[in-house]
Amino acid sequence: MPLRHVFIAHFWYCCIIAGSVGIKKTMVSDRLDNVTQTISKLLEGYDIRLRPNFGGDPLRVGMDLTIASFDAISEVNMDYTITMYLNQYWKDERLAFSTDEEILTLSGDFAEKIWVPDTFFANDKNSFLHDVTERNKLVRLNGDGAITYGMRFTTTLACMMDLHYYPLDSQNCTVEIESYGYTVMDVVMYWKETPVRGVEEAELPQFTIIGYETNDRKERLATGIYQRLSLSFKLQRNIGYFVFQTYLPSILIVMLSWVSFWINHEATSARVALGITTVLTMTTISTGVRSSLPRISYVKAIDIYLVMCFVFVFAALLEYAAVNYTYWGARAKKKSKKSKEVEEKRPGTKSTDTTYQPHNEDIIELQDVRMSPIASIRNRHNSSKSTSGGATGEVDPSKFPPSFRISRSVGYGFNPRSTPGLRYRGSKGNPLHKPKVFHVIRKGACALKASMPKIKDVNVIDKYSRIIFPVTFLLFNVGYWAFYFFE
Ligand SMILES: *[C@@H]1O[C@H](CO)[C@@H](O)[C@H](O)[C@H]1NC(C)=O
Ligand SMILES: *[C@@H]1O[C@H](CO)[C@@H](O)[C@H](O)[C@H]1NC(C)=O
Ligand SMILES: *[C@@H]1O[C@H](CO)[C@@H](O)[C@H](O)[C@H]1NC(C)=O
Repeated sequence: MPLRHVFIAHFWYCCIIAGSVGIKKTMVSDRLDNVTQTISKLLEGYDIRLRPNFGGDPLRVGMDLTIASFDAISEVNMDYTITMYLNQYWKDERLAFSTDEEILTLSGDFAEKIWVPDTFFANDKNSFLHDVTERNKLVRLNGDGAITYGMRFTTTLACMMDLHYYPLDSQNCTVEIESYGYTVMDVVMYWKETPVRGVEEAELPQFTIIGYETNDRKERLATGIYQRLSLSFKLQRNIGYFVFQTYLPSILIVMLSWVSFWINHEATSARVALGITTVLTMTTISTGVRSSLPRISYVKAIDIYLVMCFVFVFAALLEYAAVNYTYWGARAKKKSKKSKEVEEKRPGTKSTDTTYQPHNEDIIELQDVRMSPIASIRNRHNSSKSTSGGATGEVDPSKFPPSFRISRSVGYGFNPRSTPGLRYRGSKGNPLHKPKVFHVIRKGACALKASMPKIKDVNVIDKYSRIIFPVTFLLFNVGYWAFYFFE
């Protein structure tokens, strides 16, 4: 008996549960029917072309946006790319369906059936709405007709950058939001209480966002006065990249060029190679910097630095030219003076016999025209020799290879007296004008030389350079960084 009772009780229990589920099901389907009906009823006679409150007070449209990511900032194109969520809030009384606090979240397509603001970005260059997996849009309808319309998109916005202080600059990039067609008579936009979110989390490789602010103002255009909302980001460029890619290498290259001052001035190839290499490296560095920038005509901070580094490197090369010239120029003068004296002491003897001394280092003294690399001079001498018939006991000219120093002393006529062949030719070719011009030039050169300080030891130039170059570079750096940091 008790078993039967239990069975009956269980049966009734099951019946009650099944009944309650059935009732719930019908209630839900009623409600769903009701919503479908409600929405269909709302859209009945709804004119999508007319703004809410048409003909009355202007519609207030609230805005807020969330930064998803800062994608890129391009100096070459003067723009930046940003991905964001934009939400717009307004109230359309025609869509009120209930007095309760009821919220319906509808699919994004619903936006095509109701009036939405024609918001656009005034500085937009190119944007797109994301559509994976569906169009990133939402419509949320409140019972009282308040609408939230959200979307996610990526936009490239123009940002005119002032690169005078590049790369020690900070930029102010804006997002300009405006209604395309509705003037302030119809639509007034405003920022919500928390207008921007997600700025703190946004990361940029080359910049730090040091602040942002929102503004709204009235923009007077040809078609009327529009309400414009703007959000501006203050972006500070991170110097780190440029320190390691540009500034440090430039400093090291300039320092490398000073190594030349500690190398013996007779090691011509070593010092010239060092000078040329550093100059070329500076050129390469500045080319690399230029490739990531637009062709701006004004001078940027980095240009000043690179140009100054180039000047320093170039000056180091010129310093060696000065050392070399001073050294060899002084020696050549001394020797030629000596040979002149010898010649004057023993007139009548051939200069070839007196000036030739078989010293290794005095190759500069070989002012024998036979050695001239200019074949015509050599030939003339040969022929004149052969006519006089004094070929015996002479040094074989083929033993001495023509050297540059010799050719310089002959070819440029440093001392015309010791090169009779050349002087003869010069005075014959233009007997009146040339000597006059030469005379004037030589006089000017002599005056210039006299005005310059006499340097006895060329090592003095190197010795001073070792101090002057680093000190000047240090002063330049102090001035440069002080100017750009405390500006
Ligand atoms: C269906 O909507 C009407 C108003 O259109 C409302 O009075 C009724 O209570 C709704 N029914 C349910 C089950 O929500
Ligand atoms: C950016 O510049 C605009 C004017 O062009 C200014 O109103 C705004 O305050 C600036 N933003 C920042 C963050 O400095
Ligand atoms: C110069 O003359 C000698 C003979 O006198 C001759 O062997 C030599 O080839 C000549 N040199 C030139 C460059 O003509």
